[in-house]
Amino acid sequence: MSLTQAVPVEIERVLVPEARIAELVDELAARVNGDFGDGELILVGVLTGAVVLAADLMRRLTMPCRLDFIGVSSYGDGAVSSGRLEWHKRLGCEIAGRDVLLVEDIVDTGVTLARLQAELLAMRPRRLATCALLNKPDRRQGEVEVEYLGLDIPDEFVVGYGLDYAQQFRNLPYIGILRREVYR
Ligand code: PRP
Repeated sequence: MSLTQAVPVEIERVLVPEARIAELVDELAARVNGDFGDGELILVGVLTGAVVLAADLMRRLTMPCRLDFIGVSSYGDGAVSSGRLEWHKRLGCEIAGRDVLLVEDIVDTGVTLARLQAELLAMRPRRLATCALLNKPDRRQGEVEVEYLGLDIPDEFVVGYGLDYAQQFRNLPYIGILRREVYR
């Protein structure tokens, strides 16, 4: 039986093939390994989309690692300074004085990430850095720092490798562009 998945009809085209994703994750992991050294690193994945990247990234990291996940939604008018985060799942471990790597699948407007970084920094980690596989620079609203970024992509609706449309397509091993007629 072949494990190769057929590309669903809802996918217009493959934007980032599986092999390219593997290269990008290799590069991200090599940089994290070089920067963080041998001390324990706490990976914090943002549910739900970052689950796939967190799992792949972690297996390429050479230092001792812990893995935790958080669930958040962003509310407010989009202004980073005035917004609030609603927590659906809080951290399960103490991060004060620890090295923390926040793992996101995609940075879109950056609003959620900026708020999340502020809240995590208030917990006084020794060091906080952020890693995201994908970035949509055209969508950014305000400044957000992402130390480890895989790939800039155009402002298209992308799914796969953890990213969903209506909770579907997260299991695709590649990043695909969703046909407009699916979500319009
Ligand atoms: C996505 C992504 C980020 C957020 C980015 O999550 O994983 O957390 O949106 O958006 P922003 O940069 O505009 O703030 P989503 O809310 O789709 O949740 P999911 O991972 O559970 O699908």
